Amino acid sequence: MTATRSPGLGERVIAPFGRRRCQVTRNLHSGGYRIFSALDPDGPEPAAGQFYMLAADSGWGGDRGRPYLARAFSVADAERQDGGVRLDFLVQAVGPGTARLAALEAGEGLWIHGPLGRPFSAPRDVADDAAGAILVGGGIGVAPLAIWRRQLLGAGIPARVLLGFRDRRNSGGLDLFDCSEIRLASEDGHTGHRGYVTDLLGVLLEGDDARSAAVYACGPPAMLEAVRLMCAERGVACELAMEAPMACGFGACFGCAIPLSAGGYMRLCVDGPVVSGDEIETALVPGSGH
Ligand SMILES: Cc1cc2nc3c(=O)[nH]c(=O)nc-3n(C[C@H](O)[C@H](O)[C@H](O)COP(=O)(O)OP(=O)(O)OC[C@H]3O[C@@H](n4cnc5c(N)ncnc54)[C@H](O)[C@@H]3O)c2cc1C
Ligand code: FES
Repeated sequence: MTATRSPGLGERVIAPFGRRRCQVTRNLHSGGYRIFSALDPDGPEPAAGQFYMLAADSGWGGDRGRPYLARAFSVADAERQDGGVRLDFLVQAVGPGTARLAALEAGEGLWIHGPLGRPFSAPRDVADDAAGAILVGGGIGVAPLAIWRRQLLGAGIPARVLLGFRDRRNSGGLDLFDCSEIRLASEDGHTGHRGYVTDLLGVLLEGDDARSAAVYACGPPAMLEAVRLMCAERGVACELAMEAPMACGFGACFGCAIPLSAGGYMRLCVDGPVVSGDEIETALVPGSGH
């Protein structure tokens, strides 16, 4: 039976068994990326930071080979409506799977499995004295921060948003944020501060109230590693939404294992993709990021 309750802040939502077929309802330009939506008739509402394994119903694998496996996608927003839960995804076409998903048209079928993985935690669960949040996104990594910002604000928790992009072509997703209170950075200077989004974070972390907020970041590995080190140096708690190559998405293949700071490994698909900054040895995961 389908759960109709919205998840509590930071509450992990368990996926129904197996994959299910949804219908694509729209596909829009968003800067250099695309936002596509699907109506999930039978699934629960996901928590922010969770992801889905996605595969198009047609033009996927088969006689033509790649893409063969489903691809991992953070949920960028979700809303219960008539007929199910609308799921929004932000996609950057970097290879055969993402190119096919970016080309989906309304009415086409989409196979989904999810929501999967560990979501973002509420600020008070990240650090006792954290009453607010600082969200730091880079490139396509802005996706899970959109739903997280909406859920935080819905719970009355203040969230400051810092987003950075390499250049105009590698930017987008701002439509998902539905607000003007975002600080932007771009490496080519086409919008906001010319430089890295971590420059903006550095300024916020210099403030006296830095420890009253938990930092949440998603973006390319080099950005995540910079955020992790900046927060560690200043004693600010952070959570990172990470990527690793994922073949199954539910713990069976061990393809997504990353080293822990205490020794040993975690499977990022079940123990992440959201991890605490002090839990991991490094955010520089081979084979992730683009
Ligand atoms: C938990 C999670 C959430 C993700 N969320 C999003 C999202 O919201 N939007 C989005 O556009 N992409 C997201 N990705 C990345 C996306 O899954 C990959 O870009 C995709 O699998 C590439 O498939 P492909 O067939 O297009 O390209 P491939 O031919 O598989 O690879 C093309 C290029 O992408 C790189 N790549 C391959 N797999 C990954 C990966 N898992 N992560 C990063 N780079 C990869 C390769 O190094 C290569 O340069 C996410 C990945 C994970 C693990
Ligand atoms: S993707 Fe298979 S174990 Fe994580």
